[in-house]
Amino acid sequence: MTDVALGAPGLAVIAPVADGRSVPDSEPDSPPRTSRAPESKATEEVVVVDYGGQYSQLIARRVRDCGVFSELIAHSAPLEEIVRRKPRGIILSGGPASVYSEHAPRLRRELLDLGVPVLGICYGMQLLAHELGGRVEEAAVGEFGRTDLRVSNPGVLLAGMPAEQTCWMSHRDTVFEAPPGFDALAGSGVSPVAAMEDAKRGIFGIQFHPEVVHTPYGQEILTRFLTDICGCERTWSPASIVDEQVARIRAQVGEGRVICGLSGGVDSSVAALLVHRAVGDQLTCVFVDHGLMRKDEGVQVISAFRDTFNVPLVAVDASERFLARLHGVTEPEAKRKAIGAEFIEVFREEAARLADGDDRAQFLVQGTLYSDVIESGAGTGAAKIKSHHNVGGLPDDLDFELVEPLRMLFKDEARAVGTELGLPDRLVWRQPFPGPGLAIRIIGGEATKERLDLLREADHILQEEIRRAGLYRELWQSFCVLPDVRTVGVQGDERTYGYVVVIRAVTSDDAMTADWARLPYDLLERVASRMMGELREVNRVVLDITSKPPGTIEWE
Ligand code: XMP
Repeated sequence: MTDVALGAPGLAVIAPVADGRSVPDSEPDSPPRTSRAPESKATEEVVVVDYGGQYSQLIARRVRDCGVFSELIAHSAPLEEIVRRKPRGIILSGGPASVYSEHAPRLRRELLDLGVPVLGICYGMQLLAHELGGRVEEAAVGEFGRTDLRVSNPGVLLAGMPAEQTCWMSHRDTVFEAPPGFDALAGSGVSPVAAMEDAKRGIFGIQFHPEVVHTPYGQEILTRFLTDICGCERTWSPASIVDEQVARIRAQVGEGRVICGLSGGVDSSVAALLVHRAVGDQLTCVFVDHGLMRKDEGVQVISAFRDTFNVPLVAVDASERFLARLHGVTEPEAKRKAIGAEFIEVFREEAARLADGDDRAQFLVQGTLYSDVIESGAGTGAAKIKSHHNVGGLPDDLDFELVEPLRMLFKDEARAVGTELGLPDRLVWRQPFPGPGLAIRIIGGEATKERLDLLREADHILQEEIRRAGLYRELWQSFCVLPDVRTVGVQGDERTYGYVVVIRAVTSDDAMTADWARLPYDLLERVASRMMGELREVNRVVLDITSKPPGTIEWE
């Protein structure tokens, strides 16, 4: 067994996350839809064959960090999937199986005959060792977490790196003997063979995880493999992504008209800007202000797109409609449904209004990210499927061809592209925000204008202080929740009966799990006293210390 309980480096509190995995942004634009554009692909790539490892995505991410395009392919995918990509190298990922168990994924021997270097990581290395005549067995004790590594024979893979280094391990099965023709390069307390190579055949293996930050020489090892061994050129960069995507969008769209639902989130913003760069005014963005946004959010989006980038933008103030629809609705699911339905109605109306006779938009821009593609099973065939929050999204039956320029990008790459295109930091680094907005943060009661305004102000104070403390980017999300509850207090010698505001701040890699953020006490104090001083209706502030699971990030 490998990849068991890998100490989650990304869960450290208020610490930079190690895992570059990204998730569907909490934007109202992620559900899968009608037809698709062809997948994008850079000229040179290294394929990561996914055996189900916890960090397979992260390997691809780190390869891209080295300037080389990389995709994840399920180990069960047809060989042709890999061959047609003409990869410059192949990486075999970690995975939870034991090579000697009956149903363990096997090594496709044809991969070794493609004439390109192969690097096995963790389970990938064990597979190589097992299939090529080495000895893999379960060790008496496993190695999990930070581990000392002794390099005895650096070979090609580890040349020039220190003889003593640390690395991050997560395995119980261990390579005890390298296969014939291989040199053992390094060992650890438990692993006699923690790295090995047959440089002549171009086959390499490492037991540890170079992709996590806790392996200090990990990125160097990956770079060695990619550049010196595979001979890749480091051409994958935000600028190259922009050039490539612009060309693809032009080829797809031609003279057609394109429409984009802009939410203000980073994914739809970057996607819209790319499309605008490609086809200019053939694009029209539709921004539906449902009145459930955070303070000044609508203004920021409109000013960035319309005034700075000159993107044709229709801004619809639909707040009255949404408020009317939410009247009397208190049950969370009913709230979500009401908002979702209203959003679709407004979007349909605007799309129809924009159509000029037969000259209607045939294309719809979506900010789908690579992680959405993987999580919906299309990328790797992996079993893990995240249930998407479709509220605030568009239905499947809208008759558009999709333009998805971020379909091959991780979230941080999408952000880098946003920066490359000149998107202001405020939009590039915006924390995720749910499609149904502030309405699902008013708990146990109706989302009235009065409550929304109060919550918006409280949220604004929290954001301001968090930004001031330099913590905004380190948090996955930070926001306020307003339960429909009042408590007794005393202010200015008078009894008060006011609202409770809940502070919710979490760290997370991907929103699937989250930890409550240990915000500094003095920051919490400042936030609380500002809220109670500046917001007349608030007389109590509390902190939510629930992780996910068992809680969810949002309260509804
Ligand atoms: P939960 O509350 O399930 O949320 O832990 C996980 C992430 O999803 C966001 N979220 C939504 N995003 N529409 C969205 O676009 C929604 O209806 C929705 N509900 C929750 C949430 O903010 C968190 O980032």
